Amino acid sequence: MPLVLVTRPVPQQAYDLLSGHAEVDRNDEDRQLEPAELLDRLRGCDGVLCTLGDRLDAATLEAAAPTLRVIANFAVGVDNIDLDAAQRLGMTVTNTPDVLTDATAEIAVGLMLATARRFASGDRMVREGRFDGWAPLLHRGHDVYGKRVGIIGAGRIGHRVAATMRHGFGCSILYHSRTARPDWESTLDARRAPLDDLLQRCDIVSIHCPLTPETHHLIDARRLALMAPHAVLINTARGAVIDEAALVDALREERIAGAGLDVFENEPALAPGLATLDNVVLLPHIGSATHETRTTMAELAAQSIIDLLSGKQPKHRVV
Ligand code: NAP
Ligand code: GLV
Repeated sequence: MPLVLVTRPVPQQAYDLLSGHAEVDRNDEDRQLEPAELLDRLRGCDGVLCTLGDRLDAATLEAAAPTLRVIANFAVGVDNIDLDAAQRLGMTVTNTPDVLTDATAEIAVGLMLATARRFASGDRMVREGRFDGWAPLLHRGHDVYGKRVGIIGAGRIGHRVAATMRHGFGCSILYHSRTARPDWESTLDARRAPLDDLLQRCDIVSIHCPLTPETHHLIDARRLALMAPHAVLINTARGAVIDEAALVDALREERIAGAGLDVFENEPALAPGLATLDNVVLLPHIGSATHETRTTMAELAAQSIIDLLSGKQPKHRVV
């Protein structure tokens, strides 16, 4: 029987599917394996079901290369895996796209509302006994209905967010992507824009591109300075797409109105000062964290391993 490592607890459906097809080495402690532990437990494995916190760099993959054939990432983003090394070593990498699009788009839209209307600081005001009753000037935010939304990364999640904001909130949509999306233009009346232009013109900016060398710190101090003082920045993609220290400066000086973040540059650590700001809404990387979605992701990841190990083409192959 092939040996498959599951690097941390996932929904039961993954273990149920794998049993009968593989011997499973499961890490039942809900913590990320240390790099040395991961390397050690990968030795002799044919497959691994890993999470986005597991760093599968070239050295780790080389150590596992004599046996490892398939890496099923329990995520759509694969920036934790050295794809070039995996390809060079003849390993297949799979991910879990589509099934998490709706759940993640919900978090992005939720963050837009929460940030523009200042949910988190309002919640703190009520809990801490600082709410003295309704007042005309109390805790004003900015409208979301009818505003201009900028989408960076016109893929699956970006599209779902754009459609929700267009059809549900009457927003106009600008998008920035390397590829033109005529379907966005025809169905959402969306317009493609250079990134700097999008940042200058949008009231709400939402990031949906993958983290790659090209998108690392795509939103830096210079680009933050292009945004309007009333604008909000939403990130449900990967933290390092934004220079988080520069974002803290922009928020502290109220050069933008707020930020809604589900992801951070050095998770789980936060840039100094971020958590003390009142104009941010911070979530613990829960884009896909619903019972339904995580169950489907578990099934998809396990099935990818089973397919590859039984000579079939897995459904979502990255390399
Ligand atoms: P996707 O369908 O591949 O969409 C990503 C889009 O980004 C692509 O359409 C791509 O289009 C665009 N892109 C790539 N490089 C770009 C660049 N340099 N500049 C501008 N656009 C670029 O992926 P998805 O399923 O929507 O997921 C997007 C990302 O969300 C994932 O990679 C992951 O990091 C993140 N995510 C986070 C959570 C969470 O829990 N918060 C959950 C799911 C996903 P072009 O190649 O044409 O530019
Ligand atoms: C989550 O962040 C994912 O990439 O699926």
